[in-house]
Amino acid sequence: MTDTATSPAPPATEIDLSVDLAGLKLANPMMTASGTCGYVDEYADFVDLTRLGAFVTKSISPEVRKGNETYRIVETRGGMLNAIGLANVGLDAFLRDKLPKLEALRQQGPRVVVNAVGHNIDEFVKVAGSVAEHACVDGVELNVSCPNVADGLVFGTNPPLLKELVGHVRRAMRDDCKLIVKLSPNVGDITQTAAAAIEGGAEALSMVNTFNAMAVDIHKRTTRLANGSGGLSGPAVKPMAIYLISRVYREVARDAGVPIIGMGGIQYWQDAAEFILAGATGLAVGTALFVDPATPVTILDGLSHWVAEQGCTSLSELVGRLRLPSD
Ligand SMILES: Cc1cc2nc3c(=O)[nH]c(=O)nc-3n(C[C@H](O)[C@H](O)[C@H](O)COP(=O)(O)O)c2cc1C
Repeated sequence: MTDTATSPAPPATEIDLSVDLAGLKLANPMMTASGTCGYVDEYADFVDLTRLGAFVTKSISPEVRKGNETYRIVETRGGMLNAIGLANVGLDAFLRDKLPKLEALRQQGPRVVVNAVGHNIDEFVKVAGSVAEHACVDGVELNVSCPNVADGLVFGTNPPLLKELVGHVRRAMRDDCKLIVKLSPNVGDITQTAAAAIEGGAEALSMVNTFNAMAVDIHKRTTRLANGSGGLSGPAVKPMAIYLISRVYREVARDAGVPIIGMGGIQYWQDAAEFILAGATGLAVGTALFVDPATPVTILDGLSHWVAEQGCTSLSELVGRLRLPSD
């Protein structure tokens, strides 16, 4: 491993870490990754949530979902395999019990993004349209990329269908509420789904969701997850996430002016810096929260130092500044 826990020398000048996500201003790029931080205050005892750029909720569906049977999470070497199955309280309870708490958090600075999921276009429209009626919801992230439910990848792997879904959802939402489409890495060519999402009206992309994967109990000769397969996340997937972000940034998103929220194994500021160079504007942390819930906030210090070390005064100057051998 490299010097992942240490920071470079302190910056001599004030560093601007704010980012602009399709017109949505965030004090800094750090966000929670959907499904790893609950609805809002589950982590409040462990980290100062007001220091986040944005809070992203777990996926909300129209109906209550109890999710898959246990085991739903297993640890793997360098990562985590999950098949939660989108367990959540459902739209009504979310609006009644959780949204007021998100609104209170928003008043203290962080932006609020609600992750929406559905079995069909009408269900996506219902969740996204309903949450976007609330002024405290700055963005809706569409989960079209969950590998852990039977129909989870239907939209995320079919570009024409994805474009249609995104178009319907965009028209159902408040104009100034940003539509973010979360891409699946479990496709042949991710630039095609990225392009379809943008053509449908996505204002930002988030990438990546988890990778299809499996772990085996060799004694019982069964899969370790009750669901059979699940989604892999954490440090093990980071190089793959970086590669996919770099491709989508260069081949689709940069010219379209669509920002990317990067995720997949971010644990240290060096990881965050790699994602920024590859083309991410926002950064979300998921699996690392299970190790240290303060990870997104801890990363901020290191990022400031790195920006200064690179001779810049703002983080946004470094977005996509990776030099490839072919450049
Ligand atoms: C336990 C767990 C639950 C997740 N639940 C959701 C979810 O409800 N909706 C969603 O869009 N992504 C979900 N994800 C995917 C994460 O948001 C993220 O895309 C992925 O884990 C990669 O980031 P990481 O390596 O930092 O965890 C989940 C991931 C984990 C580990």
